[in-house]
This record gives sequence, C-alpha cells and structure tokens, in this order.
Amino acid sequence: MHIAVIGTGYVGLVTGACFAEFGVFVTCVDKDGDKIESLKKGVIPFYEPGLEELVSRNYKQGRIKFTTEISGAIEDSLVIFIAVGTPPRGDGSADLSYVDEVAREIASHIKSYKVVVTKSTVPVGTGERLRRIISETLISKIDENSINFDIVSNPEFLREGAAIEDFMRPNRVVLGADSQQAIAILKDLYRPLYLIDTPFVIANIETAELIKYASNSFLAVKISFINEIANLCEKVGANVNMVAKGMGLDGRIGPKFLHAGAGFGGSCFPKDTKALLQIASERGVELSIVNAAIEANERQIELMSAKIRSAMPDIKGKTIAILGLSFKPNTDDIREAPALSIIQTLLEEGAEIKTYDPVAMDNAKKTISGIAYCEDAYDACSGADAVAILTEWNQFRNLDLERIKGLLTQPLFFDFRNIYAPERMRELGFSYHCVGRG
Ligand SMILES: NC(=O)c1ccc[n+]([C@@H]2O[C@H](COP(=O)([O-])OP(=O)(O)OC[C@H]3O[C@@H](n4cnc5c(N)ncnc54)[C@H](O)[C@@H]3O)[C@@H](O)[C@H]2O)c1
Repeated sequence: MHIAVIGTGYVGLVTGACFAEFGVFVTCVDKDGDKIESLKKGVIPFYEPGLEELVSRNYKQGRIKFTTEISGAIEDSLVIFIAVGTPPRGDGSADLSYVDEVAREIASHIKSYKVVVTKSTVPVGTGERLRRIISETLISKIDENSINFDIVSNPEFLREGAAIEDFMRPNRVVLGADSQQAIAILKDLYRPLYLIDTPFVIANIETAELIKYASNSFLAVKISFINEIANLCEKVGANVNMVAKGMGLDGRIGPKFLHAGAGFGGSCFPKDTKALLQIASERGVELSIVNAAIEANERQIELMSAKIRSAMPDIKGKTIAILGLSFKPNTDDIREAPALSIIQTLLEEGAEIKTYDPVAMDNAKKTISGIAYCEDAYDACSGADAVAILTEWNQFRNLDLERIKGLLTQPLFFDFRNIYAPERMRELGFSYHCVGRG
C-alpha cells in the first residue's frame, strides 16, 4: 500500500517512518523546503531517540521518501494522513488553518478514491468540516464530483521521547469513521499492531476526536491534582512522593502522572486542555475540572519562581543556573515548557541566567536571548548563586554534588523535579528546595 503523510513534524515523521517499517510505501510531504532537504540528507530536524536510524534504514530501502510536492503524493496514495500543527489561537481554540489548507490541496489533486485521515489533534466537528471543504472543491471541478473519498479520525497518542515505542506498541488505536470500507483499509494498514493484540477502538468521527482531548485533559487533571496535593504536603509535613505511591498502588488510581513538579508544558496538554474548554463552551457545557487543572498549572509554574524569590530575596543581579529547558526529558521540544516562563520571570526580576540542556538549547536560542548557554551542568553552575533543575534529564540525576557545591557561590539548590533525596542534600550542606517534600 502507498500512503502520504502531510506534515513531517514530531507526529508526521514518526508516523511515516513507523508505517515504512511496517512495509508500507510512504511519501512524507512538508511545505518547509529546508526540512525536506535535510531529511533527504538523513538529518532529522528535531530530537527523537531512535528516529534517525529508523528513517535512514527505510529511506535506503526505498520505503520512505520526502517531498514538498503534495500533488504526486496524493495521486500515488490510497490513504492520506494529515499531521500538520493545530496551534492554539489567542482564545485557546485550535487554529485549523493548516488542516484546512491541506484539505483544499487534497481536493484539488484528488483523481480517485482516497481515505483522508486526521492524525493532527482537531476539535470535534473537524471531520465534517474537512468533508465539506473537500466536497465543495470537488463540486467546483467539472466532471469530478463523482470522485469518492472517506474521512477517518485517527488521533495520535505518542509521547515525545518515546514516540517510536508508543507508535509500535500503543495502548490502543482509535479509529473514527462512518465508512466500513475506510475502517477496513485502516485496519489493513495497522495489521502489524493487530497481530500483537493492540486494542482497536472503532467509533464515529466525533467520538474519536473527543477521545484524544478527553485523554490529554484527564492526564493534565492528574498532574494538577498531585501538584496541589504537593503544595498541601509542604504545609502539613507530608511527603508527596509517598502520598503518590500510596495512592498509585490503588489499581483504580494507578501510579502514572502522579509526579509532583513544576507544572505541565509541551505542545499538547496546555493547548489541548484549552481547546477542550473552547469546544465545550461553544456548546454551552461547563468543564469546571479541566478549567481548574489549567488554573492550578498556571499557579504551579508561578509558584516555582516564588520559591526562588523567597529563598533569594535579593535576587536582582544574582545568577541562577537553570538545568533543563525542554518540557520533559528526551525531547528538544520547548513549546510551553515551564522552564521558559520561569526564566522569563527571573529575568524580569533582574536575575542573570546561565543554562544547560542536553538537546533543547538550539531551539531555546531562537526564543530567549540575554542568557548564557553553557557547555554542561558544571559550566552552568560555575560562579552561579543557585541552581534550579527544571527538566529531569538522566544526566542531572547523578550530578557530582560536591563539585556543584564547590562551583556555586552559595549552596542553594532548587530541585523542581524532585530527583534528589532531601535528607542527603541537607547532609551535603545544601539549602535544598523541592516540591511537596518538607
Ligand atoms: N508532538 C506531540 O507529541 C503530539 C502527540 C500527539 C498529537 N499531536 C498533534 O499532532 C499534530 C502535529 O503536531 P507536531 O508536534 O508534529 O507539529 P509540528 O509543528 O512538529 O509539525 C507540523 C508540520 O506540518 C508542516 N505543515 C504545516 N502546514 C503544512 C502544509 N499545508 N503542507 C505540508 N506541511 C505542512 C509544518 O511545516 C511542520 O513541519 C498537532 O495537531 C498536535 O496536537 C502531537
């Protein structure tokens, strides 16, 4: 089978490479010519463990190709995945202009039956919207209103940093469609996952679209919940890690997404929670729990700067080493990363920032200037008045703490991802501040 994947970002490129690995012939299309040129040379435009090897193997074997020309990709493919961005608008709603643009392009090049699949996270109703856009364009083309197509919603649940594993061994595949033929084609495409007993959830388009937003919003609620419990732990002398462990062992609750910290970020949770509120409010439905999770998250990020301020009342002119910029480890994605807004607040208060991140500094340099980007964690700490860990990269879990202490002008340590043991840090002589652990 030949397929096209439109948009070669985190989701599109992983989707294309993994389907190629399944033996499918994939054409990846992006309108960003530089991205396509670098992919042709084997250079992956972002950091995702294992992706370079996967892409290069399938490229050499002729199962994946890269182009900016959408027309040929559409003509050659039975299934067309839309994997372009759906960034937030000012009011929190999803910006569908990239998705709409692709739908219009598909319509203008379609010559035979196609299955058009949305992998992008799109609001409920987008499937119908795409059907309308494509139909309207087709009707305006003489003699071509008999061309048939189906729409499928196939939301993606991969996590950046573990994207290949998540695509190859997902917890579930969700397919939303009103055409049995389209479902059969998608099932055929996903047959390798069928063979490893992956559960398939087959629903109508609206349900599939909502499953994605409901899942991300639920996880965001879990994170905000444990962060608020962490703040209570600090007041009552409890340890949030133990509270989370005690809660998570209950099979009805589960241990995942109960790690207290600096708040959630990334390209999905902040935008998807806000988009879900918007979807609901347009229909007159109040989602007070999701709204509370968003507000709690905003407070949590602010609370981290407040913790630094309260330990460093004379912050103006002081230097703070920030370890970690990406919104989580194993990715260079800095979209909505808590580190960025904390750095911004500290800069506004007159602090100087030295920072190190194993892979996200190139992206950060495009957004934040006026801070020092360092060689490693020790370089960042050298001469700084405090250090703050904002991403739990493995490299930061085993720092030479004696050396860090010697490099800082004072032993002030903010561990906002709770990766060190408070007792040990205090024994080592640090003034140690973490989240929800006394
Ligand atoms: N990043 C994630 O972890 C993740 C996980 C699940 C779902 N999603 C969803 O998947 C979608 C894509 O996210 P992403 O992080 O991969 O985005 P991204 O910004 O990394 O990539 C989007 C790509 O689409 C390209 N593009 C835009 N318009 C185009 C057009 N008309 N023709 C061809 N290419 C075009 C852009 O140049 C870019 O390369 C979003 O809706 C997102 O919410 C993302």
